[in-house]
Amino acid sequence: MCGIVAAVTQRNIISFLLERIQRLEYRGYDSAGLALINQNNNFIRVRCVGKVNELIKKTKNKKLFGKIGLAHTRWATHGKVSEENTHPHISSNIAIVHNGIIENSFQIRSFLEKKGYIFYSDTDTEVIVHLLHWEQKKTGKSLLEIMHYSLMKLKGNYSMVVMDSKNSSKLIAVCSGSPLIIGLGAGENFIASDQIALLGVTKHFIYLKEGDIAIVKLKKIKIFNQNNCIVQRKIIESDIKYEYIKKGKYKYYMEKEIYEQPKSIRNTLKNRLKDNKTIYFPELGKKETNIFLHLEHIHIVACGTSYHAAMVAKHWFESLANIPCDVEVASEFTSRKLAIRRKSFFVTLSQSGETADTLMALRISKKLGYLGNLTICNMKSSSLVQESDSYLLTKAGVEIGVASTKSFTTQLTVLLMLVAKIVSIKKKEDNIEKKIVKILTVLPYRIEEILKTKKAIQNIAKKLYNTKNMLFLGRNDQYPIAMEGALKLKEIAYIHAEAYPCGELKHGPLALIDKDIPIIIIAPKNSLLEKTKKNIQEICTRGGLIYVFSDEEINLEKNITCLKVPYVEEIIAPISYVIPLQLLAYYIALSKGTNIDQPRNLAKSVTVE
Ligand code: F6R
Repeated sequence: MCGIVAAVTQRNIISFLLERIQRLEYRGYDSAGLALINQNNNFIRVRCVGKVNELIKKTKNKKLFGKIGLAHTRWATHGKVSEENTHPHISSNIAIVHNGIIENSFQIRSFLEKKGYIFYSDTDTEVIVHLLHWEQKKTGKSLLEIMHYSLMKLKGNYSMVVMDSKNSSKLIAVCSGSPLIIGLGAGENFIASDQIALLGVTKHFIYLKEGDIAIVKLKKIKIFNQNNCIVQRKIIESDIKYEYIKKGKYKYYMEKEIYEQPKSIRNTLKNRLKDNKTIYFPELGKKETNIFLHLEHIHIVACGTSYHAAMVAKHWFESLANIPCDVEVASEFTSRKLAIRRKSFFVTLSQSGETADTLMALRISKKLGYLGNLTICNMKSSSLVQESDSYLLTKAGVEIGVASTKSFTTQLTVLLMLVAKIVSIKKKEDNIEKKIVKILTVLPYRIEEILKTKKAIQNIAKKLYNTKNMLFLGRNDQYPIAMEGALKLKEIAYIHAEAYPCGELKHGPLALIDKDIPIIIIAPKNSLLEKTKKNIQEICTRGGLIYVFSDEEINLEKNITCLKVPYVEEIIAPISYVIPLQLLAYYIALSKGTNIDQPRNLAKSVTVE
């Protein structure tokens, strides 16, 4: 949550900051602000409620100049959405932008108030900046000298960038709890929450580690670790192309990302399928093979869309590998007393790798006696990958739309490969790995076919965009897909939607059925279809408004609309059937005119518990 960009350069950086902070809007878009140090060594600060576009408008006719500065886009936690609460916050000669939460801010605030500090905002960030100022004033030392000591007083997460108008040659970056990277330029350097903010000015990055404090000057970078010792951090050359983060011909990133799915699945499969029969994970070694051989249970923990992917994987682990698997929402895992199963292996699933609940679950799991842990993640540099024993990358490419799409289908692709790998290591069934390799090879083509349902989905969307409530039904491995369809609709179209297992409707929710509640039923042709047809009939006789998504023509009654879905192999049907649901949510939201990439109240990576 919250995006940070900062730069120390030899040119006026106002337009740079505005353009680059806009790229991080996916991290929060309640309000935005920036601060520069001008030629007279004074701060110039501009802030506004709303998106970066508002900030651009507000700065337009002001002749702002500064070669060093910082910018922030906010997802509000402490304090309502208002200009006063917008970053940067300033205390005399110190300005700060911050991502995270200070848990003991109230105590420090009352201490500082007693010392005469006046607070203009309700934020915990203003507490940090006044604390730094107080320590500097008290000791007469430089910002760097007081930094390590001052930070020890803070509890919580405080990735931040600070600058001192009395010393305009450097920025100080602190990494704790949320990612911060340094971008290395030619005679200029940058700091950001995510490398996508800096692509185009540099390809070379340093990922700060937990507890690092970095001094970033025009031509010099010095990093201290949490023990206050100077350290060298690896410089990484990014392979993310700037084009990846352009919308191209698409109206929204989400649309682009939906249509990109065949390509992202191909990337995920690349170099992992061998000789048409084996799955190969270069990231895993002997240690993991040994764990896979001995594990008797898998525990997957994730949030939101990633949780839905985990639920599908549970079906695969149990039905294809005969390995018991439990799946849990991370915030629940971290909120209860846990009793773990015998020889259990812990798996986390996350697009961003920064989701605070999932990260906390991983940290707790390490004390519980699991055989080991693995994360399936889209971001190699993320905290989850850094902190996990092992990892598998989903390789979906940068996902910018707040609602996850391609990260979900690539997670499922990796999970299915993992199931096959474990089956083959355990020598449970010879054919499964080969069968899965064969099916995965055709998966991108199946997705291409499914994407061709666009027109039919658009027609359904036209009929449904005014609806207030919707139900999604699925059975077995399609129930999580129904949940994912409902989540997408809630997120981007603001329509209340609930998902139920098909057979559960008669235990209560059937009372809701009337002609005004559209019901989407996911009903692929398989051994369960006959049962599902009975549920469809039950809804029909009660006058429900039914939309069936199936590869079989289902026209039991006239109040049924059937969306004919192209054929797909049964194992990968959950990956295919989510596509029409993503499209449905997208086209409904488009008709409603919501901001699809940045739905209200949400942010892409949820770095607060
Ligand atoms: C839904 C969505 C969220 C995320 C959830 C977990 O479209 O994007 O529900 O899936 O916040 O995020 P990650 O996967 O980054 O851990």
